[in-house]
Amino acid sequence: MKLEKIFKEAKDFLPLLGTDYVEFYVGNAKQAAHFYKSAFGFQSYAYKGLETNSTDCVSYVLVQDKIKIVLTSPLSSSSSINDHIVKHGDGIKIIALWVEDAEKSWKETTSRGAKSYMQPTLEKDEHGEVVRSGIYTYGETVHIFVERKNYKGVFLPGFQKWSSSYETEPTGLKYIDHMVGNVGWNEMNKWVKFYEDVMGFVNFLSFDDKQINTEYSALMSKVMSNGNGRIKFPINEPAEGKKKSQIEEYLDFYEGPGVQHIAVATDDIISTVTKLRSRGIEFLSTPPDEYYKAVPFRLEEHNHELKEDIETLKGLGILIDADEEGYLLQIFTKPLQDRPTLFFEIIQRVGARGFGAGNFKALFESIEREQAKRGTL
Ligand code: FE2
Repeated sequence: MKLEKIFKEAKDFLPLLGTDYVEFYVGNAKQAAHFYKSAFGFQSYAYKGLETNSTDCVSYVLVQDKIKIVLTSPLSSSSSINDHIVKHGDGIKIIALWVEDAEKSWKETTSRGAKSYMQPTLEKDEHGEVVRSGIYTYGETVHIFVERKNYKGVFLPGFQKWSSSYETEPTGLKYIDHMVGNVGWNEMNKWVKFYEDVMGFVNFLSFDDKQINTEYSALMSKVMSNGNGRIKFPINEPAEGKKKSQIEEYLDFYEGPGVQHIAVATDDIISTVTKLRSRGIEFLSTPPDEYYKAVPFRLEEHNHELKEDIETLKGLGILIDADEEGYLLQIFTKPLQDRPTLFFEIIQRVGARGFGAGNFKALFESIEREQAKRGTL
């Protein structure tokens, strides 16, 4: 079935304009902000902290093209943010979604069974007003609905513009393509149903453990999308294998379900990955020669011509997958904090709208090599 037709089946009781921001709870937001600036090329954007009368927590907002990330740390032991960090380590707490009407979004979702995180709340300053509301999703992760049509200030009320004498060259990251959640054993369908019933999403792609497996481990995945296709949330659950899967490792170290990776889109993955590597970002190991030898056949099968030089892609460890609509190039970082939990994917789509299913095996074998080094396979 054509994707457009599938997307039309999504319910429109929760129209989403896009991803608004992604908020991380981290142990040391000041240092994390420096890392995301220097390594990923994010720019300073907004700030709140003691200087702006925020006594509970400090937040740095970073921007690159359409992507906004917020890095938040508590300022005292009494902040509830500590509990999240103690349990999960650094990780993503909030996936904020941009809406026309935050109160209606909250009513539509809570009346369908969502657990409330934040009742509709009006925040204002001299630049206007913002309404936010929120609901829980898997684990302790939440969705916040942001209505900002009456706001002209930088980011949100309570924040001030953050100017820094240190800025880096962007690396070409443009927008969030998809964000993946890892959930517990036998919980994938529960969360698929949550996104269908509570948020009006549709399931437009599914992968079972027969498709996603290696000699040692397996997982299952279903991709959920909202009606305009702008928001895509694949949901993974572990499956039985001979050894421990990467999803189980994540669940052990995050101590529960949470966001596994953010996939960010670029128009020029060769330039982006070259810059990221030169700034110290580590990626999963390059697949063996046989992988790259098979690529031309996989493209030919679908009548696509690779515009990029395959040796360059191989040199950078970039993976290639093709489907009937086109091809895609992708690569995965190693975990971005000490616990083997959250990582980034860099993706360039040349027509293809899939998720790199043809790369799953190569990718997982690469992750298993890392797990073996950590003693968690
Ligand atoms: Fe992905």
